[in-house]
Amino acid sequence: MRGLGDGRVFLITGGAGGIGSATAEILASHGGRVVITDVLGEQGEEVVAGLNAGEGQIRYLDMDVTSPDDVRRVAARLEEEDWPVYGVMANAGVAPSAPAADYPDDTWRTTIDINLNGAFWTVREFGRRMIERGAGAVVITSSIAGFGTVSPETHVAYGSTKAAVAHMARLLGVEWARTGVRVNAVAPGYTATPILDRLKEEAPDVFDQWLARIPMGRLNTPEEIGNAAAFLFSDLASGMTGAVLNVDGGYSAR
Ligand SMILES: NC(=O)c1ccc[n+]([C@@H]2O[C@H](COP(=O)([O-])OP(=O)(O)OC[C@H]3O[C@@H](n4cnc5c(N)ncnc54)[C@H](O)[C@@H]3O)[C@@H](O)[C@H]2O)c1
Repeated sequence: MRGLGDGRVFLITGGAGGIGSATAEILASHGGRVVITDVLGEQGEEVVAGLNAGEGQIRYLDMDVTSPDDVRRVAARLEEEDWPVYGVMANAGVAPSAPAADYPDDTWRTTIDINLNGAFWTVREFGRRMIERGAGAVVITSSIAGFGTVSPETHVAYGSTKAAVAHMARLLGVEWARTGVRVNAVAPGYTATPILDRLKEEAPDVFDQWLARIPMGRLNTPEEIGNAAAFLFSDLASGMTGAVLNVDGGYSAR
C-alpha cells in the first residue's frame, strides 16, 4: 500500500492488544517501522517478540496514555532516536460494563481517562510534531458503540468516549486540514479480541444477541480493522480527513 513503507514510523497506543497487534503486523508487512506502546512492561515485550515484522520492524515501549508527561517522554525519545512518528493510532481502550444508574465513580473516571483523555494527549503530542514536519496521519479507534445504543448493552462510559473520539477526528481533521496532517477514525464492530472475550464472559446472553444482529453473521477479525487503519494511514487515503470508517459487518447500516 502506497505510503506505508520506506521506513515510515507508526505508533500504536494500546498496541499489545488484539487490534493494535494486528495493525502493527500489517503496517510492518508493508515495510513500516512500528512502535507498539502499552502499559504491560515485559508482557508487552513478549507480545511484540511474537509478532511477524515482515519487511519492517516492530518494537515495544511502555507509555501510559493517561499521562501527558509519559506521552511527551516517548515522543521526545523517538525523535532523539531518529524514529520521527509519521502515523499515530490512538487505540488504547477499556470497555467496562455496568448499569448506568449504579455506574461506579472510579470506573467512569478511568474509562474517560484512558479512552478519551488518552486519545487527546496522544493525538495532541504526536500531531503537533507532524504539523511541524508538514506531514502525517492520525487514526483514532472509535466503535459502533459510539453511534448507537446497543440495547441491552450497559456501556454508558464506553459509548460516550467512543462518540467523543469520533467527533475529535472530525474536529481535528478540519482544524488541521491544510497542515499536511490527516485525522480519521475507524469504527470497529464486534471484533474477535481479548476485550470482547471479557465482555462475552460478563454477559454471554447479550453476546449471542449481538451476533444475531450482525448482518454478516460473524465477528470482524482484528486484521480487518488493521487493514482499514492501514488504508487510512496510506497515501491511498490522501483525500480523506475528518472521516469515520465503519468496519462492522454491516452492523451500523441497519
Ligand atoms: N474488540 C472489539 O470488539 C472492539 C470494537 C470496537 C472498538 N474497539 C476498540 O479497539 C481498541 C483496541 O481494542 P482491542 O479489542 O484490541 O482490546 P485489547 O484489550 O486487546 O487492547 C486494548 C489495549 O489497551 C491497553 N491499555 C489499557 N490502558 C492503557 C493505558 N492507560 N495506556 C496505554 N494502553 C492501555 C491494554 O493494555 C490493551 O493492551 C479499543 O479502543 C477498543 O475500545 C474494540
